[in-house]
Amino acid sequence: MGAGILGVGHYAPDKIVTNKDLEKIVDTTDEWITSRTGIEERRIAGDNENSSDMAFFAAQSALKDANINAKDIDLILVATVTPDTPFPSVACMLQDRLGAQHAAAMDVSAACTGFVYGLVTAQQFIEAKTYKHVLVVGVDKLSKITDWTDRNTCVLLGDGAGAVVVGEVSEGKGILSHELGANGAGGRELYQNENDHLVMNGREVFKFAVRQMPESSVNVVEKIGLKKEDVDYLIPHQANIRIMEAARERLGIAEEKMAKTIKKYGNNSSASIPIALSESVKQGKIKENDLIVLVGFGGGLTWGAAAIRWGK
Ligand code: UT7
Repeated sequence: MGAGILGVGHYAPDKIVTNKDLEKIVDTTDEWITSRTGIEERRIAGDNENSSDMAFFAAQSALKDANINAKDIDLILVATVTPDTPFPSVACMLQDRLGAQHAAAMDVSAACTGFVYGLVTAQQFIEAKTYKHVLVVGVDKLSKITDWTDRNTCVLLGDGAGAVVVGEVSEGKGILSHELGANGAGGRELYQNENDHLVMNGREVFKFAVRQMPESSVNVVEKIGLKKEDVDYLIPHQANIRIMEAARERLGIAEEKMAKTIKKYGNNSSASIPIALSESVKQGKIKENDLIVLVGFGGGLTWGAAAIRWGK
């Protein structure tokens, strides 16, 4: 038996903020944002809508998709850098709201790579047969730490949540390999400052991402004795279309074989990969037995990838 994904779900807030809307608050243009990043609009959570609320809706949807009752979850992992409060964790809030009374619960902090870190952690518990069902959520409300006067960052970010249920799948399916990494020396390239704002050295993060995403994608495929040509579908962290395209070109896969949600959601941190996964599954873009690669990078600096043979 292996560990794989039994169900997917996602949630995006209703409020849409377009590039034209941002032209009114910072010195930018729709043309600059679209051509440099691929982003056309993003979702922004309401004032009273917190990470735990978005996580709840995404989790409910994933549980339904997996046909699993909340009482059967053994562990909840929530990847986030924007919890409602430092403690209790979003995972504990979610445990209560879902009625998952048998689940242990904790948050995972690895910025935009958080979901991949959570997924790989879940895999370990399932493969060790410690737990049967682990709920992994990636959620961020970046709008609450965005400096809305900084055009270098505010045009990039959005809010949302994505979730998966991880459990046992048949041999040869599920998560076949992974790579997790960190370089704390790069911590000052992307961090939260004393005013609670997200601060980023865009050019340095760009260089890091363009190198790391393709490298990690190829590594996880080679770890299972396959070649990059064997990849059927790529789900990169949705940070910048130019970074995503660099990873796709290095893998040599066709344009329609890469998930692209950045145009309508922007960069929603740890939610970006599970939202892209959930949408791709629901749109029928991922088929039974497809080899998919999830790959992310983010503050820390951190990075992570997983190769998954789709199916149960
Ligand atoms: O998940 C978190 C990970 N974060 C990322 O992945 C972000 C990685 N970095 C990037 O995506 C890109 O570096 C950015 C999108 C942030 C910036 O794109 P760039 O092509 O690297 O632009 P740049 O930083 O080299 O700036 C080019 C020019 C600058 O003006 P000057 O110095 O040439 O006069 C910027 O001041 O563009 C200017 N600029 C803007 N202009 C209009 C920066 N932001 C904006 C803006 N609108 N919003």
